Amino acid sequence: MFFVFEGIDGAGKTTQIHQFADWLTQQGIQVVTCQDPGSTQLGQRLRQLLLEKHQVPIDILAEMLMFTTARTQLVQEVIRPALQQTQTVLLDRYIFSTVVYQGYAGQLDPNDIWTINRIATGGLMPNVTFVLDLDVDLAMERLNLRSDDAGIRRTKELDRMESRGRDYFLRVREGFLIEAEKWPDRVEVIDANRPMAEVQTEIQTLAKEYMDRQAVARS
Ligand code: TYD
Repeated sequence: MFFVFEGIDGAGKTTQIHQFADWLTQQGIQVVTCQDPGSTQLGQRLRQLLLEKHQVPIDILAEMLMFTTARTQLVQEVIRPALQQTQTVLLDRYIFSTVVYQGYAGQLDPNDIWTINRIATGGLMPNVTFVLDLDVDLAMERLNLRSDDAGIRRTKELDRMESRGRDYFLRVREGFLIEAEKWPDRVEVIDANRPMAEVQTEIQTLAKEYMDRQAVARS
């Protein structure tokens, strides 16, 4: 099984993925957890360039291709081999993120991003994608951001993507919801404005349904 977790920054993906991995492991399921971009040497290098604040100009088209390049390496080096060994893959972000951050919220055409990403991943799609949905102002609070008339302030330093501001995040959230509607049988929108434990219970309940369905399809 291949599970992807998506959502705006601050939606709590990382915590949910860790808890979900523990839950699967307790049932004797072999889990591989990875992060996109990241989880390969090339992915880590590209992640640094994409997220750290620096003076290197990166055009939005180049940015999209860099996220996509990291993904190609991740699919080839980690995800496909793990799936071939019937391991369960949990992935923090995937194609939706590029379609949404560089497409809906950036300036690129989401359809072009889909086309390039289908080629870049050989068409590999997850069995289920959980979109953790959260009000943008709440997400910003969780990120320790404060939005006010003057813009956004933060006590900790923002990374390159997080500095794009509230309007950008509003388009990100909207983009995830629009994309989710296109895939009703493999994308689940989860209300992340609830206690972490409740969100986790819903993820586990839904995951079990998908795993049971998959087991029936295999038998
Ligand atoms: P994430 O791994 O969630 O970062 P962290 O765990 O440090 O919060 O995501 C990294 C950032 O990159 C996040 O702001 C979303 C952005 N992003 C894109 O803009 N496009 C993409 O294709 C991906 C995968 C992420």
